Amino acid sequence: MIRRATSEDATWIRDVSGEVYAEFGDYSRIIPSWLAHPGVLTFVEEGEAGQRRGFILIGFYEPPDMPQAGYVADLLAIAVAPPFQRQGIGKNLLEYAIDLAVLAGQKVAVSEIHLTVAETNHVARRLFTRMGFVVLDEHHGAYDGGQRAIRMRRVLASSSS
Ligand SMILES: CC(C)(COP(=O)(O)OP(=O)(O)OC[C@H]1O[C@@H](n2cnc3c(N)ncnc32)[C@H](O)[C@@H]1OP(=O)(O)O)[C@@H](O)C(=O)NCCC(=O)NCCS
Repeated sequence: MIRRATSEDATWIRDVSGEVYAEFGDYSRIIPSWLAHPGVLTFVEEGEAGQRRGFILIGFYEPPDMPQAGYVADLLAIAVAPPFQRQGIGKNLLEYAIDLAVLAGQKVAVSEIHLTVAETNHVARRLFTRMGFVVLDEHHGAYDGGQRAIRMRRVLASSSS
């Protein structure tokens, strides 16, 4: 089940972020400021026993360099806690994020969903590519560990399939 996060999820999200993003920077410090941001929506995936397994953070913004685009959805974070990885949860969360952006586009113009990923994060990059994301900017800055940050985009159609 995927549900909106509550304030009770914040510590778990911060701790999982600190663990899974360790090589990219201190995300246990960065994520709480995103969680508190009113423009960022957070969703948690939980298993049948109610255990939290993964999460996404998604925001919407008007890109100044793409005035014709309307809003762009920005998948700020997607993560699955290590004990639950490789069970299809990351793919489900990504599909959920795409569907959410498509749904938002029925109310306001949302033309694309973007995300940022480390060049060295081959597992995530493969997942994003298979889900229709293409490289938008190969030099989108760098993470704390020196890895190049890559910006990816997927143009939104009327559904994620
Ligand atoms: C990227 C991430 C979200 C994927 O979540 P997941 O639940 O493990 O992924 P899934 O089980 O849905 O698998 C998706 C695909 O990736 C493959 N995959 C997942 N983990 C893999 C691994 N360690 N090695 C090789 N392939 C892997 C799966 O086989 C699957 O491929 P398929 O569709 O061909 O079967 C997860 O690895 C993660 O949280 N990583 C740390 C945080 C991160 O890097 N986030 C992305 C950048 S913001």
